[in-house]
Amino acid sequence: MNSQASPKCFYCKIITKYESTYPVRSGYFSVDDTAFRCTLHSQFQCSRCKKFHHFSWLYWCENKQELICGDCNKPVLHPITFWNTTYTYSFQCSTCNEPHFDLYYLEFQGKHPWQLDLEKHIRPVGFKELDLIKWKPGKVRRSKKITVEEALKIPNAVLSRRKKMSSHVGSVKFHSPLLDHADINQTEVRTQWEQTSKQWIDLVNRTSQDDIGDINRQLIIDPAMWKLIGEVNNLSVLDAGCGNGYFSRALASRGALVTGVDQSEVLIDYCMKKEKQKKLGIVYHAWSLEDLHQIDDDQFDLIISNIVFVDVLHYKQAFKELARVLKLEGRFIWSNLHPVFARVGNLFYRLPFDTPRNEERLYVMIDRYFDSGGTLISWGSLEPIWQFDRTLSEYSVALKDAGFLIREILEPKPDNEVIKNHPRLLAFDTDRIPFFIIFECVKQK
Ligand SMILES: C[S@@+](CC[C@H](N)C(=O)[O-])C[C@H]1O[C@@H](n2cnc3c(N)ncnc32)[C@H](O)[C@@H]1O
Ligand SMILES: [Zn+2]
Ligand SMILES: [Zn+2]
Ligand SMILES: [Zn+2]
Repeated sequence: MNSQASPKCFYCKIITKYESTYPVRSGYFSVDDTAFRCTLHSQFQCSRCKKFHHFSWLYWCENKQELICGDCNKPVLHPITFWNTTYTYSFQCSTCNEPHFDLYYLEFQGKHPWQLDLEKHIRPVGFKELDLIKWKPGKVRRSKKITVEEALKIPNAVLSRRKKMSSHVGSVKFHSPLLDHADINQTEVRTQWEQTSKQWIDLVNRTSQDDIGDINRQLIIDPAMWKLIGEVNNLSVLDAGCGNGYFSRALASRGALVTGVDQSEVLIDYCMKKEKQKKLGIVYHAWSLEDLHQIDDDQFDLIISNIVFVDVLHYKQAFKELARVLKLEGRFIWSNLHPVFARVGNLFYRLPFDTPRNEERLYVMIDRYFDSGGTLISWGSLEPIWQFDRTLSEYSVALKDAGFLIREILEPKPDNEVIKNHPRLLAFDTDRIPFFIIFECVKQK
């Protein structure tokens, strides 16, 4: 036993589980002393932006002999099982028009530039062990299949050795600090959503051709919503914050008499256009949930609201308005981002810290839970919107004050079938912690 032994490379150790002849190298590089990595599995420099990136975020163009990062040329997910993973990233090169793969998959194929003796073309972070890649793959390349669960266990062993903070917030960008509700202006909240609405419509249409909402709605939220909602035939239903109206249309096609309300005129115009194309008898209004004075008291048998309150500034007032227009004993079923696990400020711990791979996102770090208010954020390339964080008890008090009794709370998660068919979704941790919550409330006397 040598007490001076350097730590072994995080990735080499993973690969050696699948390739018994693979040489496990020393790990020299670690920003935070958690996942040490060898030169080959550390970071390389992008030929275009000159930044260093995780090796899985870099693509090799044989034709131009250059490395291009995933920020300079957006990659797509390419499902393929090798070693510990079920996908690689690839992108269509604008220069030579051929698909290029990330360095991890290239190494698996034996086509990593260093396996092709092209090491002078790609510059790693640091220069230790340049002769390291003597290992060449055998003639027959066959990867062993392992489950996503098994893959998720691999980094945990490393983690148990050392825990330190490092974080990525994924695709959320922050444009403001967390502000008190009182310091945020309702007109601005509305205007921001109005600007995002067109992009939102495009995004939903791109990701869901069948008018069934995005993947979270299809696979996680909506099945739980429908379980609570049950039969709607002949019920008068309000879809509060109806967005592009897909849920209103689903309700109407099950026989409900639906009213859809949303503050965004762009979204309501879109809903009305859809209604013209296919008449379902839905009535839409561009109103704000805080002020539904055009609707008389006790009108609806059921109110549903799907992932809306995270965007509503005056949520207490909105609850009161919804309680007013709901019939006595009528139900208000609403889903939201989970107030604990899906807060805007939560950080995801990744190991290694710079990995673009979601299965290497180990857990969510929760802090500042009691801070409530709004943050101007943007999701991916969407225009910024205000998003609101409140605690569970703030929501429960506001519901009670508005006259609602909470009858049931669901924390939906994907079922086994979904997990089996969508391992990538599992990698987003949706079967580990609840990102969504659903309340079934009843209007009381
Ligand atoms: C995340 S989207 C969800 C839309 C739809 N329910 C769905 O599931 O696709 C939130 C919607 O809430 C609407 N919204 C936010 N605050 C609102 C308010 N105060 N009054 C009415 N609608 C509001 C937004 O315009 C947006 O369409
Ligand atoms: Zn390594
Ligand atoms: Zn780059
Ligand atoms: Zn190319």
